[in-house]
Amino acid sequence: MSGDGFSNGPPPGARPDWTIDQGWETYSQAEHDVWITLYERQAAMLHGRACDEFMRGLDALDLHRAGIPDFARINEELQRLTGWSVVAVPGLVPDDVFFDHLANRRFPAGQFIRKPHELDYLQEPDIFHDVFGHVPMLTDPVFADYMQAYGQGGQRALGLGRLANLARLYWYTVEFGLMNTPAGLRIYGAGIVSSRAESIFALDDPSPNRIGFDLERVMRTNYRIDDFQQVYFVIDSIQTLQEVTLRDFGALYQNLADATDIGVAELVPGDAILTRGTQAYAKAGGRL
Ligand code: PHE
Ligand code: FE
Repeated sequence: MSGDGFSNGPPPGARPDWTIDQGWETYSQAEHDVWITLYERQAAMLHGRACDEFMRGLDALDLHRAGIPDFARINEELQRLTGWSVVAVPGLVPDDVFFDHLANRRFPAGQFIRKPHELDYLQEPDIFHDVFGHVPMLTDPVFADYMQAYGQGGQRALGLGRLANLARLYWYTVEFGLMNTPAGLRIYGAGIVSSRAESIFALDDPSPNRIGFDLERVMRTNYRIDDFQQVYFVIDSIQTLQEVTLRDFGALYQNLADATDIGVAELVPGDAILTRGTQAYAKAGGRL
């Protein structure tokens, strides 16, 4: 995850690229237990909900073990599979730093884990969201390339002043993406797979709109960071996502400069609607 704008420099104790040691040997047993609790309840329910690429990655990395995974161990497998690695950072990092890591096939992950009373919701991404949520997909060769290309695209968008548009692409794919597969609708977004409640809501609840992925549509759509999404965008495969994002965004960015934003619950002409949501959850006040 990234924060906003360019960096002034890393916080004390961090390296120039903002990385820190994971300090794996400093986790307490209580912290390992939080991981195990979260892992067990998510892994069990994601069968038939998360896409095959995610489930395969989860198995390949063997993220269960006895608790919070040691990045050094994950990285051996990840390097072998796709050449990616996970690096620890102190929290949100500036956009340019974030993109530089992705462009070099490094995924910046939080080192801390949520407290036992925060199992279901927390504001800042912790190691469970970052590692359980994001890293399995990085074992898929096509998704691995997409994430690197996103990092390069981020550096370009930052220079062109179109980061707000590109950030929506990340949000609605990497974080909250759904995939239409022959077996049914599946989750690949890290923000969903790392949340017990949203793993059910995103697939089964009648409230949100579910719309076929369209690049320009996505880049015009606002998102909310405080509650379940009111719209999910559905890709056909990682391959097709990769193909539509490979093209040069130059002309698209020019169009977007004059385009109006689309609200989170809005439907617009041309939408390939899979589910027309009732928005009942949001109308009832959502999480409140
Ligand atoms: N094709 C995009 C560009 O020209 C870069 C990009 C690739 C962005 C993949 C996101 C994902 O800017
Ligand atoms: Fe994330």
